[in-house]
Amino acid sequence: MLKTDILIIGSGISGLFFAMKIAKKRPDLSIVIMTKETAKNTNTQLAQGGIAVVTDHLKDSFNKHIHDTLRSGGGLCDKEIVNMVITQAPERLQELIEIGTSFDKDEKGQWNLGLEGGHSQHRILHHKDSSGQEIESKLLKIIKKMPNIELLENHMVIDINTETKKAKTTCAGVFFYEKKYNRIKYMRTRTIVLSTGGCGQLFENTTNPKIATGDGLAMAARAGAEIADMEYMQFHPTALFTGKENPLFLISEAVRGFGAHIVNDEGKRFLFKYDIRGELSTRDMVSTAISKELQSSGKKHVYLDCRHLDPKAFSNQFPVITAHCNALGIYPEKDLIPVVPAAHYQCGGVRVDKNGVTTIKNLYAIGECARTGLHGKNRLASNSLLEGLVFAHQASENVDRTIAEFIFSSQILIPKFPKAHQVDDYLAFEILKKELQKLVTAFYTSEERDAELAFEKIKELHNYAVSLTEAHEIMIPFIEFSNMIAVSLLIIKQCKTATDQKIC
Ligand code: SIN
Repeated sequence: MLKTDILIIGSGISGLFFAMKIAKKRPDLSIVIMTKETAKNTNTQLAQGGIAVVTDHLKDSFNKHIHDTLRSGGGLCDKEIVNMVITQAPERLQELIEIGTSFDKDEKGQWNLGLEGGHSQHRILHHKDSSGQEIESKLLKIIKKMPNIELLENHMVIDINTETKKAKTTCAGVFFYEKKYNRIKYMRTRTIVLSTGGCGQLFENTTNPKIATGDGLAMAARAGAEIADMEYMQFHPTALFTGKENPLFLISEAVRGFGAHIVNDEGKRFLFKYDIRGELSTRDMVSTAISKELQSSGKKHVYLDCRHLDPKAFSNQFPVITAHCNALGIYPEKDLIPVVPAAHYQCGGVRVDKNGVTTIKNLYAIGECARTGLHGKNRLASNSLLEGLVFAHQASENVDRTIAEFIFSSQILIPKFPKAHQVDDYLAFEILKKELQKLVTAFYTSEERDAELAFEKIKELHNYAVSLTEAHEIMIPFIEFSNMIAVSLLIIKQCKTATDQKIC
C-alpha cells in the first residue's frame, strides 16, 4: 500500500512553499504533492497584483499595514494573527528572493511599490502584472529538484480517511483518483496539508479558474473539521466583462492604484458618492457601489477609464492586461474597458490556529482554503500571497516539531469505491454546474436571502447528479460537483446564521 510521511494537496503558493521548507528542513521525511490537474493550474498562477510587505520604514510602518488590514476586515480580523503575518512578511519575502523570484525595481534600484485599494501606502511588490506566475514558476523549479518530494499531477484526492485515536479524530490517509490509469487508490500518511484554494466557481462571474471548486474545504467538512466565515465571499470590483467568459479575466486592482478611474455609462465617476476614498477604497465598498450603480442604471457593466494615463508607462507596468485587452480590440489608451464585480476570494474556510492546524489531528489547512483570522470579512488586496507564505512557514515549523508523535495507521484499508469508469457525460455536469452557479449567485446577491428555498433547489440538483452516476459510478465532474454542492450548503448555512452579511 502506498504511503508518505506528508501529503500536500494542491500546488499553489502555500502548498509549494510549505513543501520547499519542510523538505529542506527534514530530508528524512517523504513528501508527496497531489494536484488534480497540472501543477501550474492554480489561482496563484493568475495572481496579478503582488505581495503586500512593508519595506520602506520611512514612509510606511508595520502599524500602518496592520491598521489597513483591520479596517478592511470590518472588525472581524484576529489581531494577533494580523500582527504575526505583517511583521513576518519581510523574512518570507526574503526567502522568495533567495530562490530567484524577481520583483520590479525603479531606475534608482529601489522597489517599485504598487498601491492598491484599502492601502494607505505604496507597499505592493510585484513582477509587472504577472506576480503569481513568477512566484509559481520559481517555486516549481525548486520543488522538482528536491529528492524527497514527489509531485503527482492529475491525481485528484476524493476524501480524507480518518480514525479515532484517544478520542480524537485523526487523519490516516486519502482516497484518490489517478486519471492516467482511471483508478482509485489509497495512500496512508502521517500528516495532510490542504492547500486547495477557494470556491470561486460556485458563482456565475468569477476570476477563479475552473479548478476552484472548493474540494479541500468539502473534504475537510466531511471529515468533521470546523469551517468558519463562509458567508464572506470577496468580489473583485474589476473583472473584464465580455458576456461570455468563465473565468472572467482580472483587471488588477493595481490599475486603479496606477490612477485609473471607474466610470458609469455616462462617463461619470461615481464612487465618491459611496466612499471618500473613491477608486482606492476597499474591494467590498467598490464592488457594492458598482452593483448599486448597475441596479439603478439597468446596465450590465461599468468601465475602467485609463485614457488619461501615460500609455507607455501603462503597457510597461501591465503588459499582460494590455495584451489581453488588445486581443479583444480594446486599446486602454483610447477605449474604456468594460468591467463588473466577480467572485474572487473566499475569506472564510477551514478554521485553523496560528500554525495552520485544523480541528482534526494532523490535518493542516493553508492558503485560501483556510480561515486564519487575517481577512475578517473582506481581505485587503495583496495580503493573500503573503498569508500563503506565512502560514506555510508556520505549518512547516509545527510539522517539524510534532510529526514524531504521529505514526502511520496500522489499519490497511481496502478502498470501497467501485472501479472508475471513464464517461463522456461531462456536458451534463457542465449544465448542472451552471445551474448551481446561477442559484448560489442569486442567493448570495439577493436582498432577501431565502435559505430554505435555496437548500431545496440545491438538493434537487444533487439528486439529479446522483441519478446520472448510477450508470457511471464515479468520475471527476461528479466529485467536483459534489464538493461544490457541499460548499454551497455551507455558504447558505453560514449566511443564514450570520448577523451581518451582505457584501456586493
Ligand atoms: C489584483 O491584482 O487585483 C488581485 C490581487 C489580490 O487579489 O490581492
